[in-house]
Amino acid sequence: MPAVGGFDKGNGKEYPGNLTPYVLVTCIVAAMGGLIFGYDIGISGGVTSMPSFLKKFFPSVYRKQQANESTNQYCQYDSETLTMFTSSLYLAALLSSLVASRVTRQFGRKLSMFFGGILFLAGALLNGFAQAIWMLIVGRLLLGFGIGFANQSVPLYLSEMAPYRFRGALNIGFQLSITVGILIANVLNYFFNKIHGGWGWRLSLGGAMVPALIITVGSMILPDTPNSIIERGRHEEAREELRKVRGVNDVEEEFNDLVAASEASRQVEHPWKNLLQKKYRPHLTMAVLIPFFQQFTGINVIMFYAPVLFNTIGFGSDASLMSAVITGIVNVVATMVSIYGVDKWGRRFLFLEGGVQMLICQAVVAACIGAKFGIDGNPGELPKWYAIVVVLFICIYVAGFAWSWGPLGWLVPSEIFPLEIRSAAQSVNVSVNMLFTFLVAQVFLNMLCHLKFGLFLFFAFFVLVMSFFVYFFLPETKGIPIEEMGRVWKTHWFWSRYVGEDDFVPGGNVEMHKGSNATKNV
Ligand code: BGC
Repeated sequence: MPAVGGFDKGNGKEYPGNLTPYVLVTCIVAAMGGLIFGYDIGISGGVTSMPSFLKKFFPSVYRKQQANESTNQYCQYDSETLTMFTSSLYLAALLSSLVASRVTRQFGRKLSMFFGGILFLAGALLNGFAQAIWMLIVGRLLLGFGIGFANQSVPLYLSEMAPYRFRGALNIGFQLSITVGILIANVLNYFFNKIHGGWGWRLSLGGAMVPALIITVGSMILPDTPNSIIERGRHEEAREELRKVRGVNDVEEEFNDLVAASEASRQVEHPWKNLLQKKYRPHLTMAVLIPFFQQFTGINVIMFYAPVLFNTIGFGSDASLMSAVITGIVNVVATMVSIYGVDKWGRRFLFLEGGVQMLICQAVVAACIGAKFGIDGNPGELPKWYAIVVVLFICIYVAGFAWSWGPLGWLVPSEIFPLEIRSAAQSVNVSVNMLFTFLVAQVFLNMLCHLKFGLFLFFAFFVLVMSFFVYFFLPETKGIPIEEMGRVWKTHWFWSRYVGEDDFVPGGNVEMHKGSNATKNV
């Protein structure tokens, strides 16, 4: 297989520094920023399957659901406003992540995180007390603005704080907190749904205030990153902060590189235009295709709509929420497997293994649903084996995603961009992700109604395509220092036609000379 080529690691720089308790606590607090994203992903599917919530805000969906015993199951939730409720958030997040990149750059990462927390808090309040549909939608938009700010600044904060040797694990720490957020939301939905009087959904939606407060308060007490302090011209203060963060006195080499990297990145006037240069073709391709493929695994069909989906395929409301809790647990545990294995087994292995696993599961689930519901969506009596097989294969599918495309969809782009295009490329990555999260959320219920069980085959097709893509076009990036990364393209059977011998030479041009800080200067 010529895709990777014999790559010799080269000698990356080694900055002194430890994983100090200070940096660990700081990173754990910052990673909590992922909770608001995760909480929201998990909560929306749950509330949209709660009868009391539907009755209040989406009475037509509720009526359809009540009267549906003999009608088409695939279409019982198909409602544009219901979909808008879930997906509006991602459009808002897409827009605000673009604004956030300016705030983050000019005023520091902390301020963006703070805005993220406050906006999310406001959205949670509005949703928890909602009396009319407009309050729900405005609340969702505020939550989305909050998520845009947090998702833009938190991963960046983590990369800058983390000692470079632990960057991979800490990066996946963000994804881990997303999955924990999803799980907490699923568990809460399960219990709140049982509250008599049918107002449990208010607690589910209002509960978003808790992760919002954590990140708001967290952002106030967290220190600023040395990079961000340098960017704002306060060099002495930055040097002190770096010593504290790394737990050693000898930080001169890293400090000088940070200053140089900051100056070099200031000289790049048109990062967006830069991105279009031929030598960045592999980076641009990855910045667009990786988030696109991540969303076309179909994962958010499960994450947003698991209870709705389980309901559709024959589970009661309670059993549906319980099944969502089970998939939530699988998601968290499998993410931990990825933290353990990502630097041992490599990215490509996880991508490919996860791909095969997801593909098989999608085919089995499609076959089961197709066999029971057929084309007209009328299942008759559903046997127990059916429920067990469907939940089991959905869990195996979630595990496959959670140790491959889930964390790697964020990690791989973050480690391949050289400094001078990093900021722009990262924005492309986040926006493409939000755009397709929006699209999948927006069209899913409609697709379920029309494609029926074929919906799973639709996503299976994309999983097949993305696995071939990884196999042929994605080089292994495990254990390769960022400043050496240019070589993986040069030795690649396909990308070598875009990246010349003189591009990305360590020490030979601006980006690579400062490249040892590349990930630290987004
Ligand atoms: C994705 C989300 C997804 C989540 C599931 C993240 O990496 O970006 O869209 O819902 O993983 O755990």
